[in-house]
Amino acid sequence: MKKMVVGIGVLLCLLLWFSSCGTRIDDTEQPAGTDLLEEEKELVEEGDNYIVVGISQVGSESDWRIACTESLKSTFTQENGYYLIFEDAQQKQENQLKAMRDFILQEVDYIILDPIVETGWDAVLKEAQDAGIPVILVDRQVEVSDESLYTAWVGSDFHSQGVKAGTWLQNYLEEQGRGSEKINIVTLQGTLNSTAQLGRTDGFASVMKNHDNWNMLERKDGDFTQTKGQEVMEEFLDSYSDIDVVVSENDNMTFGAIEAIEKAGKTCGPEGDIIVLSFDAGRAALEAMAEGKINADFECNPNLGPEVSRIIQKLERGCEVDKFQYIEETYFDPTMDLESLIEERTY
Ligand code: AHR
Repeated sequence: MKKMVVGIGVLLCLLLWFSSCGTRIDDTEQPAGTDLLEEEKELVEEGDNYIVVGISQVGSESDWRIACTESLKSTFTQENGYYLIFEDAQQKQENQLKAMRDFILQEVDYIILDPIVETGWDAVLKEAQDAGIPVILVDRQVEVSDESLYTAWVGSDFHSQGVKAGTWLQNYLEEQGRGSEKINIVTLQGTLNSTAQLGRTDGFASVMKNHDNWNMLERKDGDFTQTKGQEVMEEFLDSYSDIDVVVSENDNMTFGAIEAIEKAGKTCGPEGDIIVLSFDAGRAALEAMAEGKINADFECNPNLGPEVSRIIQKLERGCEVDKFQYIEETYFDPTMDLESLIEERTY
C-alpha cells in the first residue's frame, strides 16, 4: 500500500497553497488542538490517492482516550485524503510493538504512535527509520538515545499541568486560612512510567517541596481507569483516617475515588471532607464539579488529530516541522461559569 503518486493538479494546487512552508493559505495561525481549516480539507481531498497512516493507540482506558481516538479517526478519513489502519493496544506495550512492526511490513506512509510508557522504543523506531517511515508521536513521549528516531511529537505539557494543580492547591489553602495547617495528601497515579504520570507527579511535587506542612501519605498506581482508581482509593481510606486532599491523575480515576469516598461515608469537593484535584477536565468531570464533588480540574486536550494532519501535510510538501508542539490548555474550578463551560464542552 505504498503511497501512490499525487496528481499533477494537486501538486500545482499545493505549490500555490504554500510558496513557503510556514504560511497557511489564509495566513491565519491555526492553534494546535483545533479542527482542520476548510482549505486544508479541500486540498487533501483533491489527491488522487490516499496517504496511508498506521495509528497505534494506547487503549480505551478513559474518557480522554476515547475522545482522542475520535479526534484521530475523524481526521484520518478517506474524505480527508487518508487511508487509516487503526490498532488499539489495550494498554499493552507488546501490542504496540507488534502493531508498529505490522505497519512497517505494510509499508504505510506514516506511523502515529501514542506510546503507553516512555521506555522500550529504540529498536522498533530504528526499524521504522530504516524502512523510511516517519513516526509522529502523539500525547505521550519516548525516552530514546537518539531523538532523530521520530519526526515530531504533539501533546500536552503534563509537567505544567502538575505545577498548575500544586499552585491551585497552595492558593486555595491560603484563601481557606489553612496555609500552614498540616495537609495530608494521597495521589492516584496514572500508568507508571507514562509521560502523563511522570509529568503530573513531578509537576505537583515541584510545588509540594515548598510546603513542609504538606504530607504525601502515599502515591499508588491507578492505571488511569475508574475501577482501579476506586480500588486504590478504598485502600487509601482503609489505611488513613485523615486524608485532606486526593490528587487524581485523571478524571476516570477521580470518578472511582468519589465512589470510594462516598461509600466510606465521607464527602468530597468544596463543601466536603476531602479536596479533590483531577486532570483531563472532560464534560463528565465538569458535571461532577458542578455537583460539588471536584475542587479543580486541569485540562488535557484530546483533540490531537488536526495538528498531526497538519504535520503530515507539511512533510508531504518537504517542509521542516517543529519537533515538539504543545497543545494549549487551561484549568477549571467552581468559581467559573460551569453551566456554559459544560454546554460548550465537546468531549
Ligand atoms: O496520556 C493522557 C492521559 O491518558 C489522560 O490524562 C488519561 O485520561 C489517559 O488515559
